[in-house]
Amino acid sequence: MPDLLIPLYGQGGDRGGYAPGAVAGVTVRRALAYERQLVLGWVERAFGAGWAGEVAVALGCQPATCFVAVCGTELAGFCCYDTTYRGFFGPLGVGDAARGRGIGRALLGAALHAMWNAGYAYAVVGATGATGFYERVVDAWQIPGSSPGPYPPRLRGRAE
Ligand SMILES: CC(C)(COP(=O)(O)OP(=O)(O)OC[C@H]1O[C@@H](n2cnc3c(N)ncnc32)[C@H](O)[C@@H]1OP(=O)(O)O)[C@@H](O)C(=O)NCCC(=O)NCCS
Repeated sequence: MPDLLIPLYGQGGDRGGYAPGAVAGVTVRRALAYERQLVLGWVERAFGAGWAGEVAVALGCQPATCFVAVCGTELAGFCCYDTTYRGFFGPLGVGDAARGRGIGRALLGAALHAMWNAGYAYAVVGATGATGFYERVVDAWQIPGSSPGPYPPRLRGRAE
């Protein structure tokens, strides 16, 4: 799976090309420190321990580099940046029942907007299995020669 490159500057080069999206009935915002255990548990149950590890890094930053999509008081999705590598966007995940409503697009827009405001000109999406999503929703190009990219072979074993 290749890495993707997303320019953040938009046309003209002097403004962020992406804005936080809006979805009726859904709030997209940064996760807060006191939500740490709840968000980590949700991500681990839905997407596994590896992504939860990346979320833990994002939630350890101030401000957090983790965004959540919230319906009422329920978590519907999340995304992060600056986790395994600086300048990388991801992971991004939307709960099964909430997919297809624009929440993934809204989370991605919020994080790319934040990355531009933090001083990044490009975001890299590492080894994603959802290339089609990024190519559809934002300007994203596959980086030649980026598979396996910066990822060493994974450790094996059970998380206790
Ligand atoms: C990929 C994912 C985040 C999309 O979330 P979502 O909330 O369902 O996406 P949205 O509703 O915002 O979709 C926005 C657009 O992308 C399209 N899209 C969604 N998933 C897609 C995919 N896997 N491939 C191509 N297009 C996709 C939608 O059809 C929609 O198109 P439209 O604007 O023409 O209607 C979600 O399916 C998910 O969590 N998948 C599992 C985890 C994953 O693969 N994460 C990404 C890798 S880090």
